[in-house]
Amino acid sequence: MARKKIALIGSGMIGGTLAHLAAKKEMGDIVLFDIAEGMPQGKALDLSQCGPVEGFDAKITGSNDYADIAGADVVIVTAGVPRKPGMSRDDLLGINLKVMKAVGEGIKNNCPDAFVICITNPLDAMVWALREFSGLPHNKVVGMAGVLDSARFATFLAWEFDVSVKDVNAFVLGGHGDTMVPVTSYTTVNGIPVNDFAKIKGVDQGRIDEIVDRTRKGGGEIVGLLGNGSAYYAPATSAIAMAEAYLGDQKRILPCASYVEGKYGLDGLYVGVPTVIGAGGTEEVIEIELSDEEKSNLKVSTDAVEELLEACKGLDSSLA
Ligand code: APR
Repeated sequence: MARKKIALIGSGMIGGTLAHLAAKKEMGDIVLFDIAEGMPQGKALDLSQCGPVEGFDAKITGSNDYADIAGADVVIVTAGVPRKPGMSRDDLLGINLKVMKAVGEGIKNNCPDAFVICITNPLDAMVWALREFSGLPHNKVVGMAGVLDSARFATFLAWEFDVSVKDVNAFVLGGHGDTMVPVTSYTTVNGIPVNDFAKIKGVDQGRIDEIVDRTRKGGGEIVGLLGNGSAYYAPATSAIAMAEAYLGDQKRILPCASYVEGKYGLDGLYVGVPTVIGAGGTEEVIEIELSDEEKSNLKVSTDAVEELLEACKGLDSSLA
């Protein structure tokens, strides 16, 4: 059987990390694509030379030609610009929307059967625009945000409780912005609801609220520290988990920016919801019961996403 083909559109910090992880896991042959000339070829050469040391078999190539992503099984999109300190994800909208148009056309013309994972920010608007520009079915285009946001929430909780991160199952809904909704009622520590576990550990509600707030601003905290660019290790790791769920038909339930029509009172919007990922792409959106407060927080978050979609339509009339 031929190896799977993984195309990475954007070969910057996240793209390079994705290539390294995918190669180490022998997920398939990898094409690094970028508009910058030489850079994807250079990274591909460098990464290929990890092979003998790490002992992986994966052909890694760099390209500036969309023809080289032909027949890809999975496409992960990071093309665009990342945030600088002081910028919100939304500030990237104008530039990255144009990038999504070029990328969407490249995918449509070369690998229309691929499973496409978008990472470019502002995520919920960019994944929607990428789907529109590519014309692929909604179940084959998804955004990576919830796995990362949940991982951030789980990390902070594990630190606070001094327990293994493996035992924390954190739950985040909504858009990938400061209005995201970390849902404590569905967050558990080895099955124990987090609020009960906090009582056992003598952690008060105020501290949990601080952790929720830190999770919401988790990306910005890293942007501020790095000074130039945004997070890349955990975003890449999160997208790889989604790609593995698809390639392995794992039916994992992962929080993803999925197309939601009907559930959560939404009428055709990409937003973070628990999603079953298997060979059919995003196979099912799981709708959970929410408290009135959680519902109203989710509404604030989805309203913010809708505003961005309107802004996209204003910038590109083909989306209106
Ligand atoms: N087509 C292909 N690649 C492009 C295009 C384009 N039209 N425009 C820009 N790029 C490439 C850049 O040349 C760069 O190599 O996208 C790459 C982006 O890499 P980085 O600047 O290192 O950004 P990164 O940290 O990888 O983040 C990428 O993910 O998390 C989000 O907010 C982040 O939107 C940003 C994206």
